[in-house]
Amino acid sequence: MPGARVVLGVAGGIAAYKACEVLRGLTESGCDVTVVPTPAALRFVGAATWSALSGKPVATEVWQDAHRVPHVRLGQDADLVLVAPATADLMARAANGMADDLLTNVLLTARCPVVLAPAMHTEMWEHPATQSNVALLRQRGVLVLEPASGRLTGADSGPGRLPDPGQIVAAAQDVLRRGAGHRADLAGRTVVVSAGGTQETWDPVRYIGNRSSGRQGVELARTAVSRGASVTLVAAHMDVAPPAGVTVVPVRTAEEMRSAMHARTAGADVVVMAAAVADFRPAAPGEHKLKRGESGADPVLALAENADILRELVEARGAQERPLIVGFAAETGDADRGVLALGREKLARKGCDLLVVNDVSGDRVFGQSDNEVVILSASGRETAVPRSAKATVADAVWDVVVESLS
Ligand code: CTP
Repeated sequence: MPGARVVLGVAGGIAAYKACEVLRGLTESGCDVTVVPTPAALRFVGAATWSALSGKPVATEVWQDAHRVPHVRLGQDADLVLVAPATADLMARAANGMADDLLTNVLLTARCPVVLAPAMHTEMWEHPATQSNVALLRQRGVLVLEPASGRLTGADSGPGRLPDPGQIVAAAQDVLRRGAGHRADLAGRTVVVSAGGTQETWDPVRYIGNRSSGRQGVELARTAVSRGASVTLVAAHMDVAPPAGVTVVPVRTAEEMRSAMHARTAGADVVVMAAAVADFRPAAPGEHKLKRGESGADPVLALAENADILRELVEARGAQERPLIVGFAAETGDADRGVLALGREKLARKGCDLLVVNDVSGDRVFGQSDNEVVILSASGRETAVPRSAKATVADAVWDVVVESLS
């Protein structure tokens, strides 16, 4: 976002070194970044590093440069305040409105979107004190990303890792793209998105897959996070990394996706089936690798039909109002009917609330960064989204979802 004024707050955790990469990513995308480390952050990465990478002086206390009133000006002038890493201590101080260093002052004076990327040990993240601070901050419209899971500083692992710096930059760009009109209109909502293409086991080394890259599902998850939702991404094979701030449930086959979706959608507000789920799987997967000439003739692969997860989710919901269920339809049209006619039939057949219809003929969708869709609703409404970035398409889907939820 060229010219956007970003305050990058850095709290005192070991992940502070990864904030150098966040800083680089922001400056390389043209942002004007002022780094505000806490005094504790400077124990991990010194002021010289921040100032060299940002090309600006670095202050941690309100007493430095006091005649310019930085504690007020920085927050007031910013288009975005991003804190990475946000420690348990920083979030506790922010939740309680404390102003004992420059960064917490900036957080109090900022009227722009605020994004926090937490990093700490699992125990600290899961502690009720931290969880209630996070809940309070989210309630006030602060976007607190879910930490990633994985190896922590010591030998232990679990949730608490700083999300990938590139993904933090992408989340920040998404909030900046939405600009002053930023609405956390999915705040308090629980969203489950499926993405990617399933892989159906044939034998221990082979599978049947499809061309889905997972991009549209990832953009749906990323934009839902930046609109304030708590997001679970049920991810089959994807060519792209999952976004920052989501809980990732990795799956491989349609059957694994089916169990994960049923387990995760109970209690959710919205479910989006953006995954390309295989309709068929090898009926009898081999226990050993099929060898050339083994069967004497050309091998024939028998297929069995997979469950239709989307339909099952609609059935499982029964007469309840939630979750709102969104399907995707990849269509090519046929001799008799166009893509939209087939979409309308599919919406009725699947029984979901919204169906996002894609024309996948030619090479127009798979692996591309843009997309063109029509969002059909069960109430008969049609919303056409002209060819645009998959992130923009994702936002258009959430716009319709938000309207339907209210
Ligand atoms: N879907 C699903 N389970 C399947 C197949 C598809 O939940 N076994 C979901 C997809 O995630 C998508 C929607 O159903 O949201 C439509 O997928 P699509 O491939 O367009 O349709 P199909 O169900 O395969 O129907 P058809 O083969 O008749 O086009």
